[in-house]
Amino acid sequence: MDQDPYRSEDGYHRPVLAEEVTRLLAPVMPGVVIDATFGGGGHSRRLLEEYGADVRIVGIDRDPAALENATALGLTAVLGNFAELENLVAANVDEAPAAVIFDFGVSSHQLDRPERGFSYHDDGPLDMRMGPDSTLTADVIVNEWPEPDLARIIREFGEEPSARRVAGAIVRARPIESTSRLSTVIAQAMPAARRRAGHPARRTFQAIRIAVNSELDSIRDGLDQAIRLVRERGRIVAISYHSLEDRIVKRRFADGATGCTCPPQMPVCGCGRSAELRLLTRKPIRPSQQEIEVNRRSRSAVLRAAEKVAA
Ligand SMILES: C[S@@+](CC[C@H](N)C(=O)[O-])C[C@H]1O[C@@H](n2cnc3c(N)ncnc32)[C@H](O)[C@@H]1O
Repeated sequence: MDQDPYRSEDGYHRPVLAEEVTRLLAPVMPGVVIDATFGGGGHSRRLLEEYGADVRIVGIDRDPAALENATALGLTAVLGNFAELENLVAANVDEAPAAVIFDFGVSSHQLDRPERGFSYHDDGPLDMRMGPDSTLTADVIVNEWPEPDLARIIREFGEEPSARRVAGAIVRARPIESTSRLSTVIAQAMPAARRRAGHPARRTFQAIRIAVNSELDSIRDGLDQAIRLVRERGRIVAISYHSLEDRIVKRRFADGATGCTCPPQMPVCGCGRSAELRLLTRKPIRPSQQEIEVNRRSRSAVLRAAEKVAA
């Protein structure tokens, strides 16, 4: 069985951990919610159902195709990268948001379109751009990057144990013109044992996609800006699908929740640090077995949430 964490029968319309997101936002209603990864609008739809006129949603996505869903729902739809969250929100909202939701990665809709080049199952061009703001394409990385750079991203962003071997095979097979050819080249480079454990191209495709879209830098910038943006006691909810995403969220939230670091014997604080966040999820929330059964894409999801403390 293929191990693709994103694909499900109708995952695009079935938001991951939607009940948990809805419950976490109850204390900040009424208010403006920024859905920073609008996608199919699943989370927004669920919030509208629950909170009706109490919630005003602004849907942001890098992908113009996703925003058609926001417009159809009558919401404010903003095309852009959440790495520019403060500018995007300032241009569209005149009050501090009550919450920002992030549901990282690609949507099933993007994966299911072979012409977007995300899927190692289908034949498509080497693209993998989530939106027009990405200047890089998978084609440039696959066909032009020096082998050591290719190996580095496959190792760092794909956590692929055979990164050097895969990078070498890609460079030798150039020019590579399609996702299916890339997928075959990777599969052939893998040790036999790896060919039996999930799809051999999954980690390399993830790595190239992360590099094309500067996904991890965007998450760092987006989280920092969301924390600055939300009102006092406002909430940030982030759903990650692999350890690289989750590590960034976990560290940023833990850092924000760290107050004065002076030794206890100091009579007054000398470090000047005070916590900006309160963790709402000491342990991350994961989907139930029941949710995983109806939505395979949810099975690697990890939700963390934090509240901005009073200044
Ligand atoms: C997993 S999907 C979101 C699904 C959505 N929550 C739902 O319930 O339908 C992720 C979406 O976030 C978008 N996205 C990913 N990174 C982004 C970024 N840095 N800025 C804006 N949108 C981004 C993708 O284009 C994709 O549409």
